[in-house]
Amino acid sequence: MAKLAVLASVLLLLLAGAHARHPLALSRSLEEVADPAADVLTEEQLACYVKQLPAVQEFACKVLYITLRRALDLVKNGTMQEETLLEHMQEERADSYGHPDYVMKPGFDADMASAVLEEAKAAAASGAPFDQPPEAFCNLSLSTGFHRVMGAFYPFTVDADFIEGSIRASPALELKVFDHLASAFNLNREDVTWEQLDDLIDTSKGQFALLDALNYLSDQPKSLYRHNVLNLGYIRTKLPAAPGQVPEDQWRLADPDALEICHSDLMLNQTDRLVMGSTWYSIDDTNFFAELLSKYNRTHLAGPSGSAVLLHTLFFDLLG
Ligand SMILES: *[C@@H]1O[C@H](CO)[C@@H](O)[C@H](O)[C@H]1NC(C)=O
Ligand SMILES: *[C@@H]1O[C@H](CO)[C@@H](O)[C@H](O)[C@H]1NC(C)=O
Ligand SMILES: *[C@@H]1O[C@H](CO)[C@@H](O)[C@H](O)[C@H]1NC(C)=O
Ligand SMILES: *[C@@H]1O[C@H](CO)[C@@H](O)[C@H](O)[C@H]1NC(C)=O
Repeated sequence: MAKLAVLASVLLLLLAGAHARHPLALSRSLEEVADPAADVLTEEQLACYVKQLPAVQEFACKVLYITLRRALDLVKNGTMQEETLLEHMQEERADSYGHPDYVMKPGFDADMASAVLEEAKAAAASGAPFDQPPEAFCNLSLSTGFHRVMGAFYPFTVDADFIEGSIRASPALELKVFDHLASAFNLNREDVTWEQLDDLIDTSKGQFALLDALNYLSDQPKSLYRHNVLNLGYIRTKLPAAPGQVPEDQWRLADPDALEICHSDLMLNQTDRLVMGSTWYSIDDTNFFAELLSKYNRTHLAGPSGSAVLLHTLFFDLLG
């Protein structure tokens, strides 16, 4: 679990657009650099190092592949549209907020998204194993860098159809969701059916009900990430974020110089600006979380990451 935690926090840093000013040609092993000797490497330097490791890159590619294989099954079932898969995989810009040159999420361009999906379809058609990406798939996906592969599967973590389809594809997950919902809301287990859930989900932001049913409604949440405390006032504050409602002085953009070195593959167009998490969340300097971080001399951006919870759920629950 400790290694997973390190990996998760590194992935988080990458997703948060962490800064990295010092490219390092490192010879230390991951175990050595992950040793918490304070002056060995900064978190940013560690992120740069980890992102280049073949095992980490292959893991990212594998998650993208399995996600697409699952999603293609759901397209066949009529649960998802192929167009949605292509949109999810692409770079997301703040067009609807009036800033088409601000990047909200890394991803492929349209051509690469199509090409990657074609590779996944070809693998499915040839009966390739569900959980072993063909070399050609990973070569192609990773050819534009690690960040875009991470960004390509990220939107599936909050796609209601993908979530429900994945749960319904697994009898064990289905049972877990029904049991947790029944116990949290004091229902007769027999009364919790997909017909009833579907109705509720359609009218009530249901993907989060299902995600919560998978994780938080159990009696054994194991960490801060898995408790639903991310947005409580003593941790952080969610800022107004609907299109048209983000004040101009609320945008927090990454310093282009800071991205130049080892995260230059984040954006399709180097003249665009990367939106940071602190645009959506603020941490009041006097709250519990800020005081805790300051006690240990740690900086903060946007607080503990909901994306980490979602990715954990994608890897270990939805994709098994
Ligand atoms: C994938 O890339 C590696 C390294 O560049 C190369 O040796 C291999 O032939 C490629 N495989 C495919 C199927 O394209
Ligand atoms: C697709 O539908 C078939 C038949 O209805 C079902 O057996 C299968 O589990 C479904 N696949 C997924 C991923 O939901
Ligand atoms: C990058 O963005 C700039 C400014 O919006 C634009 O002029 C340029 O055409 C873009 N380049 C590419 C390759 O899209
Ligand atoms: C935090 O930094 C201060 C000032 O540099 C130092 O005195 C203190 O020991 C540091 N605390 C920890 C927990 O590292």
